Amino acid sequence: MGEMPFPIDRPRRLRRTPAIRDLVRETHLQPSNFILPYFVVEGEGVRKEIKSMPGHAQLSVDLVVKEAREADALGIGGVILFGIPKHKDEEASGAYDDAGIVQQACAALKREVPGLLVITDVCNCEYTSHGHCGKIVDDDVDNDITLGWLAQAAVSHARAGADIVAPSDMMDGRVGAIRAALDDAGFPNIPILSYAAKYASSFYGPFREAAESTPQFGDRRSYQMDPANTREALKEMALDMEEGADMIMVKPAMPYLDIIKAAHENFDVPIGAYQVSGEFAMIQAAARNGWIDLERAMMESLTCIKRAGAHIILTYFAKEASRLL
Ligand code: PBG
Repeated sequence: MGEMPFPIDRPRRLRRTPAIRDLVRETHLQPSNFILPYFVVEGEGVRKEIKSMPGHAQLSVDLVVKEAREADALGIGGVILFGIPKHKDEEASGAYDDAGIVQQACAALKREVPGLLVITDVCNCEYTSHGHCGKIVDDDVDNDITLGWLAQAAVSHARAGADIVAPSDMMDGRVGAIRAALDDAGFPNIPILSYAAKYASSFYGPFREAAESTPQFGDRRSYQMDPANTREALKEMALDMEEGADMIMVKPAMPYLDIIKAAHENFDVPIGAYQVSGEFAMIQAAARNGWIDLERAMMESLTCIKRAGAHIILTYFAKEASRLL
C-alpha cells in the first residue's frame, strides 16, 4: 500500500444500489430468447406427467395447442416439438410419416396459434424400436442410410408447417442432406438450426424417460461427441456451416459454456444452447430439497448461458422465466 491513497478503484461503487446495478448490467434475458420443448403423444386429453421433470408432461396434440397459447401470450420465442409415436420400428417410419405425431402437432399449432414459431427436432431415436438415432447395421448406426430418413423427416415437417428444422442426430453430412432435400421439395426458405456440437451426455437422462428413447443396447458415443473435446466441436460447427446451417447449437449448456463461447467467437450466426433435461432436473431437485432457491438458480443459469454467447436458449424453464421477466 505505498504512496497511492487506498484504493482508487472501488468496484463496489457500481454495485451499491439496485438502480446502479440495473444501469451497468451487461446481459439481459428476454422471453423471445427462449424456446420451450414439448413432448407430443397420440390421443386426446392425454397429460402424462414426467416424474423427473416437474411441470412437464407428455401431451396430446389438443393439450399442446392449449399450452402453446399460454406460451405465445408470454412472448416466448417459440416451441420445439419432440414426438413419441404409438408404434416404433426398426426403420423409424413414424419420424418421416406425413401423418406422424410431430407432423400432426405442427399442423395444429400453425392452424390454432399461427403467430407462434414452431421448431421441430429432426431425429430418429424416439421412433426406432431400439432407441438409436438411425438405421442399425452390424450393431452400429449406419450414417448414410440414416441421412435419407432425416432428409425425409425434415421435408415432412416443413410440409406440416414447421418454421425451422433442428437436426439432433449427429450423423455426418446431415445438414447438407437436409438442405438439399428441403430445397428440392420447394422449401428453400426453411432455416436449419443444427445441433452442431452435441455431446454424449449423462444429462439427457430425464429426456429419455420423457421421450421413451433410451437405447436398448450400447450408447450414443459412436455418434455424439466426447465431452472432453473442444477442437472437435469447432470442426463439427464448421462442417455444419459449410453444409448450410443457418444457426448452430451447443448441447448441453451449463457444463459447456466454454463451447458456447467458442461458437459465438468463431461463427457469425445466431448461437443456440440447449439447457437439457438433466440440468433442469438438478435445479428442480435441489430446490425441492430446500438446498437452492429455484427462481434465482433458474434465472442465474439462463443469464450465464446468454452471457457465454447463446442468443437462443432451449429451456424447460421458458414459461417460468418469461413470467418473471
Ligand atoms: C434426440 C434428442 C435428445 C435430446 C434432444 N434431442 C436425446 C438424446 O440425444 O439422447 C436431449 C434433450 C434433453 O435432455 O433435454 N436425439
